[in-house]
Amino acid sequence: MLSVRVGLTTFLVTHLILLLSVPVLGDDERDYLLQGLNSYRRSQGAAPLQMHDKAGCLADKIADEIQDRPCPPGGVPTTTSPGIRPQLTNYPALVKECNIDINNTLDGVILPVCVPKRVATLVLTNYTLSPYSASVNSTKYTGVGIGLEDDWTVLVLTTNTAAGSFASAACFTCFV
Ligand SMILES: *[C@@H]1O[C@H](CO)[C@@H](O)[C@H](O)[C@H]1NC(C)=O
Ligand SMILES: *[C@@H]1O[C@H](CO)[C@@H](O)[C@H](O)[C@H]1NC(C)=O
Ligand SMILES: *[C@@H]1O[C@H](CO)[C@@H](O)[C@H](O)[C@H]1NC(C)=O
Repeated sequence: MLSVRVGLTTFLVTHLILLLSVPVLGDDERDYLLQGLNSYRRSQGAAPLQMHDKAGCLADKIADEIQDRPCPPGGVPTTTSPGIRPQLTNYPALVKECNIDINNTLDGVILPVCVPKRVATLVLTNYTLSPYSASVNSTKYTGVGIGLEDDWTVLVLTTNTAAGSFASAACFTCFV
């Protein structure tokens, strides 16, 4: 009887914690996506991506910028090269706002997808079962930032080389 009560209390407490954590839903979504991307990478023999703060800042700003764009059919924008960088005229300004030297973004890649209501499983497969999969499974990339806004999810993938470090100009030793 005691253990039933303890179990019930644990149950209630857990639910209370879940309720209280509603405002940080975005973090849960990011965790789910990161775990999904990394288990996909593991299956391909690639090391897991680490969360990257500056890339996260940029991903958020890009998501904010494109949130009102309609979803392309199939969720994944079709561009000649992956990423939407060339189509964002204020990209340099966004990069600067995140205190990133634009010269340290050249080897990175930006991967936006649009899924109505950002259904988590569909967002994940838009990365793993689309032309983006070649970037998502690449050993070239080591870090990731995830931006979420409206129906859009934006991944910014970073490398461990200077040109993909997304470091600030002053940060000479960040990538060694
Ligand atoms: C990544 O996936 C592509 C197919 O999309 C495959 O050809 C390639 O070998 C994979 N790369 C790695 C590192 O597993
Ligand atoms: C980026 O590199 C170019 C050419 O090497 C240089 O002129 C420019 O000042 C650099 N930008 C920054 C923000 O350091
Ligand atoms: C990507 O998301 C769209 C919804 O925007 C969905 O229709 C499509 O099936 C998804 N594609 C993949 C490969 O998961």
